[in-house]
Amino acid sequence: MRIDILTIFPEILEGPFSQSIVKRAIDHQIVEIHLHNIRDYSTNKHKKVDDYAYSVGAGMVMTIQPIADLIDKLKSERSYDAIIFTTPDGIPYQQKQANQLSLFDNIIILCGHYKGIDQRIRDHYITHEISIGDYVLTGGELAAAVITDSIVRLIPGAMSDETSALTDSFQDGLLSPPVYTRPADYNGWKVPEILLSGDEKKIEAWKHEQAIEKTKTIRPDLLKN
Ligand code: ADE
Repeated sequence: MRIDILTIFPEILEGPFSQSIVKRAIDHQIVEIHLHNIRDYSTNKHKKVDDYAYSVGAGMVMTIQPIADLIDKLKSERSYDAIIFTTPDGIPYQQKQANQLSLFDNIIILCGHYKGIDQRIRDHYITHEISIGDYVLTGGELAAAVITDSIVRLIPGAMSDETSALTDSFQDGLLSPPVYTRPADYNGWKVPEILLSGDEKKIEAWKHEQAIEKTKTIRPDLLKN
């Protein structure tokens, strides 16, 4: 899979992709992540990428030209399955969308900034508008990092334990049950007896019960779906 990320702050994204599972996936050529600085494509003599909005007090808006030229260049090199825009007024991001995106070959993620981008970019290029939650970040870079991370870990081979992505919270519409490791007794804090029993069937039933109880308490909305 190839992910092209378009941003005016590529440095923000270097950290999240230089560690752990995403780094290993890049090193093992399971995913290619390309960071592009939108400013490099500005034809303005001061490399400007924003301008005043056509309404009083609305602040600065990212201009069409550098973004359009960069997307056109990428599209001339390969076809893209999705062109995503990260924005707080997008559709709330959920695991099922991560699952869908992880099946694609090539995607673009455009990071928003300032008060937004010229609507015509959204109208003519963007296929998915995604919000990672009902709060406003300083820019779309952290959202792009979240989306990329959630996709990469689902690509076969990215995780050493192939089954673990499938047993994540949300994959079956439930939160994950609690997990324990050794020692079985830490200063009187005991691991639930059932987990020490070795009875796999009973343990699975217990985990499912725990997942339902936890979901009922923390995210009852998930059970309604
Ligand atoms: N840019 C700023 N806030 C955002 C959010 N919540 N989700 C996606 N992109 C954003």
